[in-house]
Amino acid sequence: MNPDEIKLNQAREVIRDASSVFVITGAGISAESGVPTFRGAGGLWKDFDPTKVATPEAFEENPAFVWEWYNSRRADLAPRVPNAGHEALVRLEKSRPDFFLLTQNVDDLHEQAGTETLAHIHGRIWDMRCVSCGDVHEDRTPSLPELPPCCNQCSGLLRPDVVWFGEMIKEHAIQATEAFLAQREIDAVLVIGTEAHFGYIAHWALAARGRNGILIEINTDATAFSDAADLTLRGPAGTILPTLLA
Ligand code: OAD
Repeated sequence: MNPDEIKLNQAREVIRDASSVFVITGAGISAESGVPTFRGAGGLWKDFDPTKVATPEAFEENPAFVWEWYNSRRADLAPRVPNAGHEALVRLEKSRPDFFLLTQNVDDLHEQAGTETLAHIHGRIWDMRCVSCGDVHEDRTPSLPELPPCCNQCSGLLRPDVVWFGEMIKEHAIQATEAFLAQREIDAVLVIGTEAHFGYIAHWALAARGRNGILIEINTDATAFSDAADLTLRGPAGTILPTLLA
């Protein structure tokens, strides 16, 4: 058996025996559905300066420009469907008494696959929020016809209900994550397809590990977070997860 097979078998045993599982996902889980990641080759932040399209200041200065970028992301995301990695996580949820998934992704491919217990720490791209009255509603029109769109309730400006740089992460997602971690021992922590670039992501992964969890990283490449993992499985999530969770 080669070292990768040994690690995969060890991870399988951890998952087989785990009753409480905490999962963190990032852009890598959706990569095989055709959604671009942020960093690395072909990443969104290679082609676009995030300060021009993903900050409150950019929106204040030129909302139509920011919306054009989000419109193109919406059009690109609309036809995407969940991949085998998303689907394997649904089977995992159904077979465990305690499961919680925290995603950094603004797509809804986890929900489309059937995941029920999850929170979006960076919001959801299909949700629109009025900057004046705060109303939030879902609108799945792939490409909005009039930019910037306005609120039906008060005519204020609508923005994507996603977290931009310099903004607070989603409070309901913080609370759901912390409640899950506070209420039980964690048997397995899966960190999938993310650079774990933000301190709160690394913090929650390590907090779960500190509650007795074995931390397994699944990623095509090594990350700055890899050394914190008990087991690292290298490869695409859409291949590794179905094998790991079979
Ligand atoms: P990144 O683009 O920073 O990282 C994607 C990770 O996925 C990398 O570590 C890749 O090696 C890995 N990867 C790529 N394809 C994969 C595959 N098929 N299977 C497994 N792993 C794969 O994305 P995130 O870490 O999710 O925030 O980025 C976090 C946040 O940074 C995003 O939510 C976004 C961005 O700025 C906001 O917009 C607020």
